[in-house]
Amino acid sequence: MIELLELTAGEQVLDLGCGTGMNFPLLQDQVGPNGRIVGIDRSADMLAQARKKATRQGWDNVILIQADATALDPAEISAQITRAGGQALSDAALTTYALSLMQPWQDAWTHMRMLTAEQARLGVLDMQRPTGASSVLTPLARIACWMGGADIDAHPWTALERDCTDVRTASARGGHLQVRAGVKPSDAATSHN
Ligand SMILES: C[S@@+](CC[C@H](N)C(=O)[O-])C[C@H]1O[C@@H](n2cnc3c(N)ncnc32)[C@H](O)[C@@H]1O
Repeated sequence: MIELLELTAGEQVLDLGCGTGMNFPLLQDQVGPNGRIVGIDRSADMLAQARKKATRQGWDNVILIQADATALDPAEISAQITRAGGQALSDAALTTYALSLMQPWQDAWTHMRMLTAEQARLGVLDMQRPTGASSVLTPLARIACWMGGADIDAHPWTALERDCTDVRTASARGGHLQVRAGVKPSDAATSHN
């Protein structure tokens, strides 16, 4: 999915529900030292791990913010980002294995869009029940999602399909992992609340 976002050096990318920063090495490869990663997560423990990772790697271009993605105030978060040396609105945003844990994930999706610039590239990676021949693995997938607190039937990428243009699709693990990337249209920043 990160490839589909077509990040370029110097861009600012938002990782919503960033957890321990598992995506950060791949994102760093794309945006480089002159770019920036903004990680938002509601868990202080997860962010502490992400902060350790950034410190260990010597990344001084990572901004971490603790917030509930479903309830945050985008203007306040943008102000926090600029106070930390970043841009108010990111050039791209992604959320991986995270929206399906959020209740209601639709609000988190709206906030993700509001925290990005016009024409930003947006990406969602999340889980569903495996399809086709792999559907025999559905019980395992359901248990994995249940243990992680994810709603396997949330299908949050459908919001990206609705709200973005130039949508690209990928999937893996028998359809269990669904990937969407698209472009935020100029006039869609605050629609679909
Ligand atoms: C399964 S982890 C995925 C972490 C990371 N995106 C990755 O791919 O490795 C889900 C993350 O979403 C965060 N999360 C869950 N609900 C949230 C919410 N309402 N607001 C912000 N973060 C949330 C959790 O704290 C956790 O770090």
